[in-house]
Amino acid sequence: MHLFHTPQEFIAYRKSLSGTVGLVPTMGALHAGHLSLVQNARADNQHVITTIFVNPAQFGQGEDFSAYPRPLDADLDQLARAGVDAVFLPTPDNMYPRNYQTYITVDDITRGLEGAHRPAHFKGVTTVVAKLFNLAQPTIAYFGQKDAQQVCVIRRMVRDLHFPLQIAVIPTMRESDGLAMSSRNVYLSPEERAGAVCLSWGIARASALYEAGERTPLALLGAVADEIARERLASADYIALNVAHTLAPIAVMPDADWGRGNMPEGDAPLLVSLTVRFGKTRLLDNAVLPYHLNTREGLTQVLGAG
Ligand code: PAJ
Repeated sequence: MHLFHTPQEFIAYRKSLSGTVGLVPTMGALHAGHLSLVQNARADNQHVITTIFVNPAQFGQGEDFSAYPRPLDADLDQLARAGVDAVFLPTPDNMYPRNYQTYITVDDITRGLEGAHRPAHFKGVTTVVAKLFNLAQPTIAYFGQKDAQQVCVIRRMVRDLHFPLQIAVIPTMRESDGLAMSSRNVYLSPEERAGAVCLSWGIARASALYEAGERTPLALLGAVADEIARERLASADYIALNVAHTLAPIAVMPDADWGRGNMPEGDAPLLVSLTVRFGKTRLLDNAVLPYHLNTREGLTQVLGAG
């Protein structure tokens, strides 16, 4: 497995490749969710490139940039075993040298959900992902459903800026009790970890209601809210219902102003998403409704595709 630390070395490597290239951007602290992206990339492409970069531009003041886990040796070991061809692991100084000035912003779709709680986050994500696309020139880039708004924002950027590549959306990998895998789960105390199952239970309840024909936004969100309210250590930042193709808002709790949208015409697929705090740790989860769309094919067709 090749390792590259500077953009210059990485560009020279990319120029030497012919055939299809799958790109899996990560911030490291890899778990089975990341590896599922890698496995999909391995199955589809002649070359697989992973990037590991804890991107300072997407962390806000007071967020966990310094504390973010960086188990580099274990990460490289897992990537080598998964058959990755090359890893790009730049430093912040390589990616944002002195006098760096160029950023990518995507407008409307970054304003709600995570964007409302993390003001500069998506500007940092789109900037670094655009840079990685330019450097790696992938045929297909792989992103996880777990960060559903990130998928939608990146797909918007790809269409708006004519990046000549495809996006594949890979379903969320979960622990055996349903908790979505995340590099941040290591921050949870044993009590918090036990309670964190409330996110996936809430989503399961909303999904069951939807399958039974429920289409009232507040009933669907109320079912999620009930599950979170039951858990003493949990406090929801938001629970939201959006149109899955566009992320157009339908309803959000607890913010009354942001919940005025109507259900989409023609029973179009929905995204139910939530962010819950356990102490200082923020956990995210989501699902597309109807539930059968939570596959690579379904998600790639629906999530952020409109
Ligand atoms: P990171 O949080 O490391 O995630 C890297 C990729 O793995 C993302 O596409 C994310 O959605 C996916 N992922 C995370 N948990 C997952 C799970 N449980 N199942 C499936 N996929 C999962 O997201 C980022 O890094 C950064 O914002 C990045 C895109 C690398 C830009 O800096």
